[in-house]
Amino acid sequence: MAEKFAERVVSFERPGQFHTLLIGADGRFLGIGDDGEPTCFTDADDKVIWDQRNGEVQHTTTGRSLTIDDGAIEVDGEGFAVSHGPEKLPSEYLGFFEDNGWVCLTSVLSDEVVDGLRRVACTDQYAERDPDRARAAISQHVAVAQTAAEPISLWLIRQYMQIRDIAMAHTPAMAVLTKDDGKRPVQGWHSDYPYHWGVPAPGQVPVQPGASRLGVQRNVCVSDFTKVGGATAFKLGSHARNEGPPDDWGTAARYASRSYRAEHGLPYNGPDADIVEAPGGSIILYDSRTWHRAGVNRTDNKRAAMLQAMVPMYVMPKVDMSAAYKQFAASPVYQDITERERVELEALLVRRLPGPPLHGALGTDPELVALVQKGDGTRTGY
Ligand SMILES: [Fe+2]
Repeated sequence: MAEKFAERVVSFERPGQFHTLLIGADGRFLGIGDDGEPTCFTDADDKVIWDQRNGEVQHTTTGRSLTIDDGAIEVDGEGFAVSHGPEKLPSEYLGFFEDNGWVCLTSVLSDEVVDGLRRVACTDQYAERDPDRARAAISQHVAVAQTAAEPISLWLIRQYMQIRDIAMAHTPAMAVLTKDDGKRPVQGWHSDYPYHWGVPAPGQVPVQPGASRLGVQRNVCVSDFTKVGGATAFKLGSHARNEGPPDDWGTAARYASRSYRAEHGLPYNGPDADIVEAPGGSIILYDSRTWHRAGVNRTDNKRAAMLQAMVPMYVMPKVDMSAAYKQFAASPVYQDITERERVELEALLVRRLPGPPLHGALGTDPELVALVQKGDGTRTGY
């Protein structure tokens, strides 16, 4: 019998140094414009990346310096907070993402944000807390909203899918993996929404020639991601095959049957698969076609991730987010985030109809749902 858990490990350590972001009261970033002068931007590309040293910040790509005064930068009477930035330039991440179909933004979230995410997930230092199941995660803590609007990953997703108008296919959700007991159902190999290859769901994207990119999965490591602790398993680079995982790897469709594990054991976990290990606060982006499955947690500690399926606006959402968005807009979190974050989250969570006459917000209609429901199931059997 093949050795268990023989996947190759790709490991990212917490970087020793980070770049710096300068963030204004409205959440926009101070950068250097094409005219060589300090300018505010809503997008986080290389223009807004700085390095902090000896009481000043130096713009990474132009070398322009500004003096830090009392922990902040002031330009034309406007203050900018000196804030945690990424390890690498956005263009460096994009180069890797384009070449490989995935990229890890190691420890891109600040320690304060990671603390808030763990509080909502009830893991790590908050493992004894009880989850709040009445409210969407994004309404519970400012850290969830800040993470959903994390600017470097959003810029990368827009570049990778070659469209500014991106959206979420569902509200950000915490996925908490507890210790495996050797017999519970596990997730099999699959590609994510909208492709859904290997998943027992209707409406899967047919395999197509060409280079269209219909989804990027944004997985935030809330806990540290380790092989033994249940980090996601991938077949890195498999997006380029433009087809789903092989049945003999054990697809999610096969493992959807509760008895499948007892009869067949775990899905493929040999050396042709990869585990990405990364510290909490890292964001892993991958082309949604990439074959993957949830890891198997062999520790006593709960492992949390915040999962987000990102799609171009022309791909329909997976679930109706309207109730969650209305709850979020009425929550204290909405008041505590910046204007930039509010604008991003409205665009990501509220789906709009692009055509006339109404340009309406897309949501489900309870009367219409009742009309097309038949008995206790929906009318899908045609
Ligand atoms: Fe998945």
